[in-house]
Amino acid sequence: MTSRKKTTSTETIDEEGEEVLMIDAEDEKTEPTVEDLPGVGPATAEKLREAGFNELLAIAVMTPKALADAAELGEAVSAKIISAAKKQANIGGFISGNSLLERRRQVQKLTSGSTAIDDLLGGGFETQSICEVYGEFGSGKTQVGHQLAVNCILPLEQGGLDGEVFYIDTEDTFRPERISQMARGIGLDPEVVLERIHVARAYNSAHQMLLVDEIQRMAKNMDVKLIIVDSLTSHFRAEFLGRGMLAERQQKLGRHMKELKKLADINNALVLVSNQVMSKPDAMWGDPTKPIGGHIVGHASTFRIYLKKSKAGSRIARLVDSPNLPEGEAKFFVTADGLRD
Ligand SMILES: Nc1ncnc2c1ncn2[C@@H]1O[C@H](COP(=O)(O)OP(=O)(O)OP(=O)(O)O)[C@@H](O)[C@H]1O
Ligand SMILES: [Mg+2]
Repeated sequence: MTSRKKTTSTETIDEEGEEVLMIDAEDEKTEPTVEDLPGVGPATAEKLREAGFNELLAIAVMTPKALADAAELGEAVSAKIISAAKKQANIGGFISGNSLLERRRQVQKLTSGSTAIDDLLGGGFETQSICEVYGEFGSGKTQVGHQLAVNCILPLEQGGLDGEVFYIDTEDTFRPERISQMARGIGLDPEVVLERIHVARAYNSAHQMLLVDEIQRMAKNMDVKLIIVDSLTSHFRAEFLGRGMLAERQQKLGRHMKELKKLADINNALVLVSNQVMSKPDAMWGDPTKPIGGHIVGHASTFRIYLKKSKAGSRIARLVDSPNLPEGEAKFFVTADGLRD
């Protein structure tokens, strides 16, 4: 068996002088991998992995022809691999309402630093969800991202999630100085906070999607509680131009959102994505306050918050879409110390 194990292993030397891996008992969960499928030797496994089939579920849902084409295998072999994967993959399936309730009970809430925003969200930003924050340039999306990153480090009693933050920065707008400022604003040591915020610059949409896989890989050894993608759509918008590319862009965005939701569910974490609005309102597109990505992004987000600038330097956050909360608005300020009422 070559099953991957979720471990926090430490290497020690036993009496015979052999190196042994000590594996924490509670982490000894094994998940079958492609190598565990009957009839799959190392060469086939490598072909499958090269074609991106690392998970059995991904194989289980293929047709023999599609898998044969993608992984350069024979169709008969592919059919056998698929039927084996179907037997071993964790397909998920149905769970009782009570188990669902139990999962919901594990939902944690992250404070924004503004009680008005927290109240709007029924107590804060929920884990196991994707929250989309959209609005014009300068409306405060990146500020919200920075503030949540800082607050995530707080202990649970203080409205934090006491976990690691992963920040995918697509526009080069992450600023450690701003994090330090906000950390001091709530009495945290900036160095401690910055140590727990892991930032990656995404150079294009494909890279952005790969980084999500990387987070899931790293999550095996750390407690990931917040994933920020700022901005979700800028690369997709720049790369897939025009109507001819729209279908492909939407399909990719949809897949990206699905992967992000998986991260949120598996890690009981919050995913925050920022999104711009259509910049050039015209007769065709109508509403200039419409976020990019349309229904694909909208439906995949659990919460949608529209940000706009308001009077006397204040800002309005409007809850636009939520499964169980009324729509409403909250007024807040972006100050040197961070978000405040
Ligand atoms: N240190 C600070 N003190 C006070 N206000 C600040 C500070 N830093 C930023 N801001 C406010 O935040 C605004 C920028 O907001 P932000 O960068 O979050 O916008 P955005 O919605 O992410 O825009 P874009 O669409 O361009 O990414 C500034 O115009 C300013 O009003
Ligand atoms: Mg921004």
